Amino acid sequence: MVTGGCGFIGSNFIRHLLDEAGFAGRIVNVDKLTYAANPLSLADVAEKHGARYAFVRADIADRAAMARVFDEFAVDAVCHFAAESHVDRSIVRPDDFIHTNILGTYTLLQLARERMPRIQRFHHVSTDEVFGSLGAQGYFTETTAYSPNSPYSASKASSDHLVRAFHATYGLPVTVSNCSNNYGPLQFPEKLIPLIILNALEGKPLPVYGDGRQIRDWLYVSDHCTAVWRILQAGQDGATYNVGGRNELENLAVVNGICDLVDELAAPLPGRQARRELITFVKDRPGHDRRYAIDCTKIERELGWQPAETFATGLRRTVQWYLTNTTWVGQVRSGEYQRWIAAHYGA
Ligand code: NAD
Ligand code: DAU
Repeated sequence: MVTGGCGFIGSNFIRHLLDEAGFAGRIVNVDKLTYAANPLSLADVAEKHGARYAFVRADIADRAAMARVFDEFAVDAVCHFAAESHVDRSIVRPDDFIHTNILGTYTLLQLARERMPRIQRFHHVSTDEVFGSLGAQGYFTETTAYSPNSPYSASKASSDHLVRAFHATYGLPVTVSNCSNNYGPLQFPEKLIPLIILNALEGKPLPVYGDGRQIRDWLYVSDHCTAVWRILQAGQDGATYNVGGRNELENLAVVNGICDLVDELAAPLPGRQARRELITFVKDRPGHDRRYAIDCTKIERELGWQPAETFATGLRRTVQWYLTNTTWVGQVRSGEYQRWIAAHYGA
């Protein structure tokens, strides 16, 4: 079972498993289809893989619906991506974050626990944001104390603790990954990189929060997928793994880099205006974490994982993807994907 498989990372992960990783089993993708989901991201996968892929629309916090999925599909492993994932939304309205990230994860853990020993692995996909903010020096390791600062990161920290407790108390075979900022194809354009790419293309203002000097550690999404798959296959029972790209960059450097790539690869703006001129400094995010940086030595050493993309290669691929996949972009930008969901699954 993959939860949240219609979101950004989940849809990339399903594609990776079925098309690239040599995975021989079956996948049931369970997704509530929130605003962040786009089933069209997997339309060709469903066609191509037929019996090996199934989709169920359900809320992971709905115990009865999830029990049916566990049993009808004889689920033996869970890879849990489903979450409310956008920090800014969690600041405006935390409710859905508490519901999905905490209660939803708890519901899945209970159902998995009740189905031991059939459940051989529960992998929980989490974030480096649970560790809070770093100063100018140092890195997050697997033993860094939790210090979440946003309702989003607090809800993910809570879910991480529940996963850990279900291992210690009930012996549920769990693994956890805490990953840095992902970017790449199929990301909803409310997150920094796709938002800036699309606004730059359209000649719109490029909003940079505060002074733009906050640092994030960027990882191309397919490298996150290979890490999760490696952990599912070989991760130690009860272990957590930090996953990151060793690509620490200030937000302003990321935005400048995107502007230059869009200038290079897309049609020029009227008057050949450089896209960097569209950068607009806006009010800062409350509680904005200053710096994240992941020490991913453990997964490299113990599981032999390595990212394949540098930030330069990954960002170029990403800009090219958004320039090429105009149908996907148009459906997301216009809200057509939501009308498609309503027509096929109801509101
Ligand atoms: P996303 O917002 O793109 O997708 C989340 C998916 O979960 C959506 O398809 C949504 O419909 C689904 N979902 C939400 N609530 C649900 C519910 N109650 N029941 C069933 N499905 C529900 O998120 P993403 O960026 O793909 O992130 C996936 C996971 O990875 C999350 O757990 C997130 O915390 C974690 N993560 C993300 C990043 C990142 O940079 N995006 C980095 C590290 C970890
Ligand atoms: O670190 C992992 C986390 O990365 C994940 O757990 C989250 O799910 C994911 O959304 C992401 O969180 P961030 O808050 O770091 O991502 P976001 O793309 O929202 O913002 C990245 C940085 O860019 C952050 O410092 C805020 C800034 N920003 C963001 C937006 C949307 C801007 O300056 N302008 C913007 O318009």
